[in-house]
Amino acid sequence: MDDMKLTMDKIVNLCKSRGFVFPGSDIYGGFANTWDFGPVGVELKNNIKKAWWKRFVQEAPTSYGVDAAILMNPTVWDASGHTKSFSDPKMDCKCCKQRFRADNIIEDHSKGSVVPDTMTNEEMEQYIAEHKVKCPKCGGFDWTPIRQFKLMFETSRGTIEGEKDVVYLRPETCQGEYVNFLNVQRTSRAKVPFGIAQIGKSFRNEITPGNFLFRTIEFEQMEHQLFCKEEDSMNFYNEYKDKAWKFAHDIGLSEDHMRFHDHDKLAHYAKAACDIQYLFPIGWQELNGIHHRGVWDLSRHGEYSGKSMQYLDPVTNERYTPNVIEYSIGADRLTLAALCEAYEEQALEGGDVRVVLHFNPFIAPYKVAILPLQKNIADKAKEVYTNLSKYFMCDYDEAGSIGKRYRRQDEIGTPFCVTIDFDTLEDNTVTVRDRDTMEQVRIKIDELKAYIEDRIQF
Ligand code: GAP
Repeated sequence: MDDMKLTMDKIVNLCKSRGFVFPGSDIYGGFANTWDFGPVGVELKNNIKKAWWKRFVQEAPTSYGVDAAILMNPTVWDASGHTKSFSDPKMDCKCCKQRFRADNIIEDHSKGSVVPDTMTNEEMEQYIAEHKVKCPKCGGFDWTPIRQFKLMFETSRGTIEGEKDVVYLRPETCQGEYVNFLNVQRTSRAKVPFGIAQIGKSFRNEITPGNFLFRTIEFEQMEHQLFCKEEDSMNFYNEYKDKAWKFAHDIGLSEDHMRFHDHDKLAHYAKAACDIQYLFPIGWQELNGIHHRGVWDLSRHGEYSGKSMQYLDPVTNERYTPNVIEYSIGADRLTLAALCEAYEEQALEGGDVRVVLHFNPFIAPYKVAILPLQKNIADKAKEVYTNLSKYFMCDYDEAGSIGKRYRRQDEIGTPFCVTIDFDTLEDNTVTVRDRDTMEQVRIKIDELKAYIEDRIQF
């Protein structure tokens, strides 16, 4: 049925009404491309970050975590190339004064048949003129020339009254991993190949429509850099493609909604690069990237800092600059993909519709909801809540019919609902209802912790 089709509006509305995500600065009318995670959403995103960290740091014996400063020495961004070339081709519609990314407009107009990544600004202007591409907002056809628009946010640091130095909000987290390559290697006694991982905020002055959490001006990245010898680098590139695919799938994304997409245009230093795309309600879009960055990052930081970033192999005494294989994924973008994948509207008997989020239980915001059947057995229910909440995020709800309470938990993806009834007072057993099958089992309160633990592993 068409009205059961997944749309971004459905996800946005559910997120607002159930406390996943609210518009940023909501009471002031919002602030474009910013969103605030609510009580349920922050749990979901934290669980996704926990799963990533578990997979790429905790269970990876040769990977090490860092948490680098957001504000870095500005020369970092000269070395990385961002101050010179981290920009998008933008043009303004002279009729409605709206600003657009020229490459996006061409991609939409050609329905994906033209790849603007490989075009110069002049070629894009020519395409727009020849095809009379109109403003998507007002329909006008009066464009300014295309100009490169800087994506880095600038702020300033005043050390002496009257003197200010420009400082950038980092547009990616990986530079904090590159500049700490030798610190981590020395202190962890790491031998190449090894990895450095980080989760943290990044900032980009994006002006294009954000499509909810898909593209925001501040977002969290989960990035892993693998430092290796050149001769091993293509094997590691392929290995990280597999690891990235498996992680996205294990989080809960269906393989039918994922595909690899090789980059059409490679940076001059890159040996290979690809994305995993996900089928969002807005179409196939990049979920994460896997990039073979060669020796670019370490050698540029060596050059700009004046400090050697070379690695000395303790066995062969060989000194060399390792290659870097990067795996980078946005925590917010993955959260959006997980929400889209989990969302289902089920037509029930009697014309009722059940909205349910089938999250992988590990990432579900609450693992269990405690629901007393009557208010006068709330004491027992609160006792169960207090005990279980030592181990899991639990919700407690005694308001409304049990059917309505189940529906509320289904809509936030709680895998288990535990109902407390009069028999509980007699025999210390409870009913556990499964979110996906709606089947119920009766178990002892003493067995609850192990029952839930067994079913929420990642
Ligand atoms: N260090 C490499 C790097 O930052 P990227 O392709 O620009 O590469 C990596 O970004 C990932 O970060 C993307 O695949 C996406 O998941 C996420 N990301 C990038 N820009 C974003 C934005 N404006 N909003 C939300 N997520 C974003």
